[in-house]
Amino acid sequence: MITEQSNYIKIKPWEDDDLDLLFRINSPEMMKHLGGSEGKEQILKRHKRYLELGNKGRMYSITLLPELEKVGSVGYWQTNFNNEDVYETGWSVLPLFQGKGIATIATKLAIEEASAMNKFKYIHAFPSIDNPASNAICRKLNFNLISECEFEYPPGNYMRCNNWRLELNRN
Ligand SMILES: CC(C)(COP(=O)(O)OP(=O)(O)OC[C@H]1O[C@@H](n2cnc3c(N)ncnc32)[C@H](O)[C@@H]1OP(=O)(O)O)[C@@H](O)C(=O)NCCC(=O)NCCS
Repeated sequence: MITEQSNYIKIKPWEDDDLDLLFRINSPEMMKHLGGSEGKEQILKRHKRYLELGNKGRMYSITLLPELEKVGSVGYWQTNFNNEDVYETGWSVLPLFQGKGIATIATKLAIEEASAMNKFKYIHAFPSIDNPASNAICRKLNFNLISECEFEYPPGNYMRCNNWRLELNRN
């Protein structure tokens, strides 16, 4: 499925027009493993954060070709985990488009972008232990499962997560 789909999926740096996509991603169903839906003000702040990541990382919309339909988000950003600077990655695909391998391909593309930055050795993902699709994505992209951990996301919300780690192919 990955090979069939990969020519139709593109990731595009986050832009001002993507605010509407962010509101669509913010449904209770989509956000159940991510601390629940956010209010309008939090979404506007998140959108600004995505636009202003600068050299700390990059967010992308996931776009289907040829219509350029926007179906989700993916990205990587700098974080500090156990006193080490690393990238973290995260992803979302709208319900209508799930189950087609889109998140897996988009995340693979985002990892290639993160590798090209030549900045950190590792990229981590911290999906909830109750999120089988996200854990499957990590497994399929050859992340190593390091351990279960308690993770705060968003600030103030603690959940049990798997710490998955992938060594980036740097130049
Ligand atoms: C997680 C999410 C991005 C997955 O998107 P998607 O495009 O449907 O994912 P993919 O189709 O690339 O693949 C997911 C893999 O998970 C597997 N999967 C899906 N649901 C599963 C389940 N309930 N149990 C086990 N595996 C499951 C799929 O079978 C697929 O593996 P396969 O290709 O080997 O069959 C999507 O469900 C989502 O946006 N959820 C809400 C936001 C979220 O939780 N984000 C994750 C933050 S870490």
